[in-house]
Amino acid sequence: MNIQVYGSAARAGVAAAQVLAAQIIKDPFSVLGLATGSTPLPAYEALVELNKAGIIDFKTIRTFNLDEYVGISRTHEQSYHSFMHTHLFSKVNIDPQNTQLPYPSSDDPEEDCRAYDAAIDDAGGIDLQILGIGHNGHIAFNEPSDLFTYGTHIVELSKSTIEANKRFFDSADDVPQKAITMGIGTIMKAREIVLIATGQDKAQAVASMILGEIDPQCPASALLLHPQVTIFLDEDAASLLQ
Ligand code: F6R
Repeated sequence: MNIQVYGSAARAGVAAAQVLAAQIIKDPFSVLGLATGSTPLPAYEALVELNKAGIIDFKTIRTFNLDEYVGISRTHEQSYHSFMHTHLFSKVNIDPQNTQLPYPSSDDPEEDCRAYDAAIDDAGGIDLQILGIGHNGHIAFNEPSDLFTYGTHIVELSKSTIEANKRFFDSADDVPQKAITMGIGTIMKAREIVLIATGQDKAQAVASMILGEIDPQCPASALLLHPQVTIFLDEDAASLLQ
């Protein structure tokens, strides 16, 4: 695990974006795994600028997002479909047909989950996966649990996650209680992983991930077993690592 600490959240985001940009330049047919939330926004802004400057081209890039709420429509303003459209897809020259987010659209959600993993496999697997981390150590919506999860699945969101995400809704009661998420196994199959964590409120989760045991109660700790992970931190998120 390679750990890099930057002076600000913006600089950590730009550094992570440079890894994504290098992947896009190296392989214009790359398959990227994408995250939502506040953390990757500086990285997405940097990618938009690099695209505008003609340095990176999204024309043949394919993307799979980590997760989506269950119980709100794709067009809901807080859906992750809307998030990705607003912050990245509408601002770069990506083909919308090449962007996928999980969504339980049939009357057999388990089949929808299997189909999502199959679509990732059919695309050749994820070359580079970008992640944030929750206060409770979740990655994607894999919440602390007794066992690591494997494939894409439907999950009940924890109180901590609902509390953290209520800032995007009118109240905690309006936050969906369920989500569809790639499993830890899906994430671990990515050939390379970039995790960004910024802010003092992420310091404990980062310390548990890096300094603790490999434990499904801290789902991000599974990354200690991945051969190609880089963690981009600002000084606040790194503050408990000494
Ligand atoms: C989002 C996701 C989540 C977030 C995490 C941190 O697609 O998978 O695991 O990365 O909840 O969220 P922020 O960045 O808003 O603090």
